[in-house]
Amino acid sequence: MNGLPAGTAGYIDHIGIAVADLDSALLLYRDLMGLELEHIEEIASEQVRVAMLKLDRRGSAGHIELLAPLSDDCNIARFIAKKGPGLHHIAFAADDVATVMQRCREAGLQLLDEKPRIGAGGKQIVFLHPRGTGGVLMEICGGGAH
Ligand code: CO
Repeated sequence: MNGLPAGTAGYIDHIGIAVADLDSALLLYRDLMGLELEHIEEIASEQVRVAMLKLDRRGSAGHIELLAPLSDDCNIARFIAKKGPGLHHIAFAADDVATVMQRCREAGLQLLDEKPRIGAGGKQIVFLHPRGTGGVLMEICGGGAH
């Protein structure tokens, strides 16, 4: 045991930002701010194109996740239409997503996923509704490639 609540990993895995256009977002985050682009992938099931940039190239685990819509009726497109581009979610790393998910459910938080699904980087992910988290869309994510 590491002194953390069961299943948690104790750091932020990534901060997700909704962007209308991935290329202009990369100009800002990579070319002007100097974050290292780790990879770009398309997640067909979510109709989203994702760019992962390292928050710290010296080795920390954190990332900025840029989320660009691939169609007009996906979640990110609806978010941008409603609120404009910007901060979308914060993802907390978990060693055991199911355990953290269950504890949040028992605490009365509303989950947007019945069970963990596969997100960027092949990780297991679950979202918590902002209604129960003081207005912040939270993702719990664990496993996968990075
Ligand atoms: Co995310």
